[in-house]
Amino acid sequence: QTRKLEDRYGRVATDLRVSLTDRCNLRCSYCMPAEGLDWLPDDTVLSDDEVVRLVRIGVELLGVREVRFTGGEPLVRRGLVDIVRRTSALGVETSLTTNALGLARMAHALAEAGLDRVNVSLDSIRRESFKEITRRDRLADVIAGLAAAQEAGLGPVKVNAVLMRGINDGQAPELLRWAIGEGYELRFIEQMPLDAQHRWSRDGMITADEIFAHLEREFTLSPAEEPRGSAPAELFLVDGGPATVGVIASVTRPFCGDCDRVRLTADGQVRNCLFAREESDLRAALRSGATDDEIAGRWVTAMAGKRAGHGIDDPTFLQPDRPMSAIGG
Ligand code: GTP
Ligand code: 5AD
Ligand code: SF4
Repeated sequence: QTRKLEDRYGRVATDLRVSLTDRCNLRCSYCMPAEGLDWLPDDTVLSDDEVVRLVRIGVELLGVREVRFTGGEPLVRRGLVDIVRRTSALGVETSLTTNALGLARMAHALAEAGLDRVNVSLDSIRRESFKEITRRDRLADVIAGLAAAQEAGLGPVKVNAVLMRGINDGQAPELLRWAIGEGYELRFIEQMPLDAQHRWSRDGMITADEIFAHLEREFTLSPAEEPRGSAPAELFLVDGGPATVGVIASVTRPFCGDCDRVRLTADGQVRNCLFAREESDLRAALRSGATDDEIAGRWVTAMAGKRAGHGIDDPTFLQPDRPMSAIGG
């Protein structure tokens, strides 16, 4: 390794999140409209070889130690197993954030290809609520996908839940009881202003404090002693442990000061933050014959503009043009 992905506040990115597609087979209302979005044109999406080359440059030249594949929905990307295999062979930890549709079929192949673990998005275990939130009647596939992931050793399996007022916020204790029973690590996430429809509002979102209030109707929470490091999730012991629940309070308890992340979009743009307003075009560099060293140089430069924090509460905050589904979360 010759360089590192350091920003001007001294934070070093070692955790690379790679979006493999902006497409998805669900339509979660807090993410996308029912009709979907204008997907990236095929010729702008990096090929498998291009993805693997960029990841290799990150790992070999820039100190990347962990790679997480995201989407849209990464399981809809045809070359996923091969990309995972070639990435794992670089000696880094690999993980996937997925809605788990089709995971029952693929968990084994992914594990065999070297995938270390998966995080699964699931906001309700009630069929009707799941359908209302995702606009698809696919709860059973998600449950099967989760079980297959655990069975294939892709764990500890984490479950991500976004709560929405009046839709599933009252289901928080029920979700937690279920997750503990199944052996999944549940995390509740504060909704961030990254929805394609720009409907997010500070008052509309369920805050960490509200999440605690919902859970404390049925459970006693106490801070887990574990060092948190750069992890977005704060961990709490449930009824004294050993079960835990995580809360990812990006908005009300930001963790930007410890950020170690950098993102690559499916069309080959580096984003130094979820909320970055500028991107750096590695696809153009790749396709104009740049050397590994030149690409690494561009990537290092892209980190310089990383801001201290997301600034969601600043009066001047502007939601990024790219929605969550095209960044990868
Ligand atoms: P683990 O390493 O397994 O704990 O994963 P993770 O929680 O970092 O990643 P995951 O893809 O499961 O994302 C869970 C939630 O955290 C999503 O809502 C992400 O958008 C959010 N998240 C992940 N990384 C960041 C980050 O750097 N900043 C902010 N604000 N949110 C993040
Ligand atoms: N804010 C916070 N989390 C979100 N997710 C999707 N949209 C948002 C948002 N606006 C979650 C998904 C998934 C993870 C990648 O991000 O539920 O679990
Ligand atoms: Fe890092 Fe940006 Fe997330 Fe803050 S909002 S933790 S700086 S990616």
